[in-house]
Amino acid sequence: MIAKDVIIIGAGAAGLFCAAEAAKRGRRVTLLDHAKRIGGKILMSGGGRCNFTNMFASPENYLSANPHFCKSALSRYTQWDFIGLVNDYGIPYHEKTLGQLFCDNSAKDILNMLLSECDKSGVELRQRCSIEQVRYDNDRYQIETNQGRFSAESLVIASGGLSIPKLGATPLGYQIAEQFGLSVLPTRAGLVPFTLHEKDKQALAELSGVSLDCTAEANHTGFRENLLFTHRGLSGPAVLQVSSYWQPGQAVTFNLSPEHSLTEFLEQQRQQQPDAQLSTLLAKLYPKRFVQTALTYFAIDNKPIKQYQGNALTQIAEQFEHWSITPNGTEGYRTAEVTLGGVDTHELSSKTMEARRQKGLYFIGEVMDVTGWLGGYNFQWAWSSGWVAGQVV
Ligand code: FDA
Repeated sequence: MIAKDVIIIGAGAAGLFCAAEAAKRGRRVTLLDHAKRIGGKILMSGGGRCNFTNMFASPENYLSANPHFCKSALSRYTQWDFIGLVNDYGIPYHEKTLGQLFCDNSAKDILNMLLSECDKSGVELRQRCSIEQVRYDNDRYQIETNQGRFSAESLVIASGGLSIPKLGATPLGYQIAEQFGLSVLPTRAGLVPFTLHEKDKQALAELSGVSLDCTAEANHTGFRENLLFTHRGLSGPAVLQVSSYWQPGQAVTFNLSPEHSLTEFLEQQRQQQPDAQLSTLLAKLYPKRFVQTALTYFAIDNKPIKQYQGNALTQIAEQFEHWSITPNGTEGYRTAEVTLGGVDTHELSSKTMEARRQKGLYFIGEVMDVTGWLGGYNFQWAWSSGWVAGQVV
């Protein structure tokens, strides 16, 4: 039996960060992870460049049944604290857009920084470690694994959500929560592409690879970012963002002319180039391939613009500015960046992440019901929640 002060299950972003913080306080910490390779998700994140935080991160950027929960941790360990650490390591980074900070070189820089923080403070890291059973006896947690039994005063669950099972995601964190009587809110895939009903899929298949600036809205929440058509359906940052707000069966509405009134543009063109075909004029705003498909999809006749009578141009503009489509579903956990829902935050202290009714049991990171927008917010939650737990475990 290996006795420690703190056992952390899950050596992802939150677990690594919490481990280093706790060990800096002199706690004897062991991190257990079943993966062969540590930090798989970090390495894959941000297209290999890890969007490690967002300069504008604030509680409004998170979804949770308890929207106040994240405030305390986010204010005690902020994006600026993490940026300070990244600066201390001399890691080069840049703002890509909307406050999103990415490594200039590689996500490996962030992983190496976390591993170095753990190493410096004496964290023991055990990979390929399967968790067989967790018990609480005599004020200590007993963890049975394929590498023997571990015992600790504090147990931190940092096993993440269900997204990308091939990177090692499992429901273990939810199972441990339920074992100790904590409620777990229903989970679903977030930041995930939409799949389409067969008719829409076929009609839009031609557009695979086309990307457009838009505003996407679902369930009264909108985002101004890019829409990407794929061979499976709809993706791109605008779609990933609204997917977290979308409920099955609901429509998603796109404004494909988010910057200017399309009616005004078309009226202006009618004055200036009355003999030009509608498709030629729309091609000033959109890729040609999109224009062709869109006219067919919206059943709009293509003719010289002077031939559109009455409010016909307004009606055409409406189709582009209020394009409403009901997705068939999402691509699910296979490609989702995050998992919505999870351990109910009403069960946890927002100051420490400790379970209110189970002494010494902590939950950090994505396993709990706090989910960020796309753009570095989820890693910031891993750092902030990991840090606050790291001060007390
Ligand atoms: P995380 O999933 O990182 O770690 C959980 C760990 O627990 C894993 O190491 C896993 O192996 C281990 N584990 C699970 N079950 C176990 C079991 N039964 N036994 C032992 N160990 C177990 N966010 C962001 O802010 N910026 C970005 O650029 C991206 N990009 C991105 C790309 C892709 C492809 C994905 C899938 C996700 C992102 N994200 C992101 C989201 C971000 O990666 C995610 O929110 C954090 O990694 C969550 O950190 P956690 O430590 O909570 O879980």
